[in-house]
Amino acid sequence: MARQSETIVILDFGSQYTQLIARRVRENGVYSVLARPDVTLDELRQYNPMGLIFTGGPRSVYENSAPHPRAELFDLDVPVLGICYGMQVGAQMLGAEIHPAVAREYGRTALTIVEPDALLRNVPPETTVWMSHADQVQSLGDDFIPLATTPNCPYAAVRHKKRKFYGLQFHPEVTHTPHGNAIFSNFLYDVCGASGLWKMGSFVDSAIQDIRATVGNDERVICGLSGGVDSAVVAALLHNAIGDRLACILVDNGLLRMNEVELVRTTFAEHFKMDLTVADAADQFLSALKGVVDPQEKRRIIGHTFIDSFKEAAKNIPNARYLAQGTLYPDVIESGKSLAGEAASIKLHHNVGGLPAELGFELIEPLRDLFKDEVRQVGKLLGLPESIVWRHPFPGPGLAVRCVGEVTPDRLDVLRRVDNILIEEITANSLYRKTAQTFAVLLPIKSVGVMGDGRTYESVVAIRSVDTADFMTADFSRIPYDILATISNRIINEVRGVSRVVYDISSKPPATIEWE
Ligand code: XMP
Repeated sequence: MARQSETIVILDFGSQYTQLIARRVRENGVYSVLARPDVTLDELRQYNPMGLIFTGGPRSVYENSAPHPRAELFDLDVPVLGICYGMQVGAQMLGAEIHPAVAREYGRTALTIVEPDALLRNVPPETTVWMSHADQVQSLGDDFIPLATTPNCPYAAVRHKKRKFYGLQFHPEVTHTPHGNAIFSNFLYDVCGASGLWKMGSFVDSAIQDIRATVGNDERVICGLSGGVDSAVVAALLHNAIGDRLACILVDNGLLRMNEVELVRTTFAEHFKMDLTVADAADQFLSALKGVVDPQEKRRIIGHTFIDSFKEAAKNIPNARYLAQGTLYPDVIESGKSLAGEAASIKLHHNVGGLPAELGFELIEPLRDLFKDEVRQVGKLLGLPESIVWRHPFPGPGLAVRCVGEVTPDRLDVLRRVDNILIEEITANSLYRKTAQTFAVLLPIKSVGVMGDGRTYESVVAIRSVDTADFMTADFSRIPYDILATISNRIINEVRGVSRVVYDISSKPPATIEWE
């Protein structure tokens, strides 16, 4: 994509909050990218950064293998904000001494500002901050000015006298630091001189320009639609940029949710008037899955069958040179894994959408700089309906991994109807937007029930609903009992073949979100 005029580069020292820092910067209207701790000056210059942020991290600066930035970075002469480990490593490079703290600090801590500096403007003189550290700066030397203290930490915020280096021992990026956003805003606007031009509208404009500049007048782009938000936003962006030179393919694998194919057809073919091919491959998928119960085997078969079906459908699209994919920034930075300690350059993670390079297309990934919530904003800007923009994630292998045991048309039919009732009730009770992912799982066991005067012996379904921001950790949603009761009653009364409903109360970790 076009280079952003105002960029902050964040050196990732392995903090669990790295992505949060990146988002806080973007929420303030300034573009941010993550880089390895040992990023070189030349690499940095390519971003033309207006400032750097050093994140926290799990190591101690005096450990041998602790990640260190290159000293030459200070030659850029742009402001640097060091947070926690980032403060310690930066201050150490500039002459301060770091030692284990006498008392470790963890959690909410009272902060007192001793020197009201530009960085701390609009922060009350006594406030609360979130601490999480074992080391701290012990001796500053003459080159630093202490800006704030806590009961156990004499240098909770510091500024270098000559260099544009600021350090915070606490974490301004977490919500437990109530004035953290003021600090980010001060750093970005007052210290770095940003004007806050990074807005989703300008992202959309520059992404559209990029696509137009890439795709020739007689060339076409194929986009695989899945019903999910990422591919939908990619398609909407491309359609805006190149109109009917975009060709969309939806592989109907027979493993989609109730009415899903119709939703995609209505939205994209009828409303947006896109060129959409629905490849009906349900029979191929279901016959390949016959008798298969192993989850990994299911995934493998679905992956191969998908590629075959996609290839087949793509053959009918003349002049196709590009394949558009909904790769997001967390995929690019290795599904949120830290960049600290990575020897190689930032690993670019292509083919996240599941299509291999040997299909022979060049990739277009217009969302690769965005986080999920930003993708939703772009979707809204492009006029996608709420039902698509706020859709819960759905796994590529579809209902196959929610039909524990063998995947058969009958079992899929039961699962679809159960899932549909669940989503109807969750939506009617205003919980769809509040939960991150809600779905039903059909279990391969039967249980005894009584209906009317008769004994029944039918299937068990599990309801899974989770709250999560990043899908890497998750907690089960606290759905009120009376809503669970309605869901259970409706499912057992309306879906033949189900006699028992259970609610999954496991968190991730140790359980995963999906059952298979
Ligand atoms: P887990 O089950 O690993 O899921 O906690 C995390 C998120 O990823 C989705 N998921 C998948 N998505 N292909 C996908 O495209 C898959 O094989 C797959 N498995 C899990 C899951 O729905 C959740 O949002």
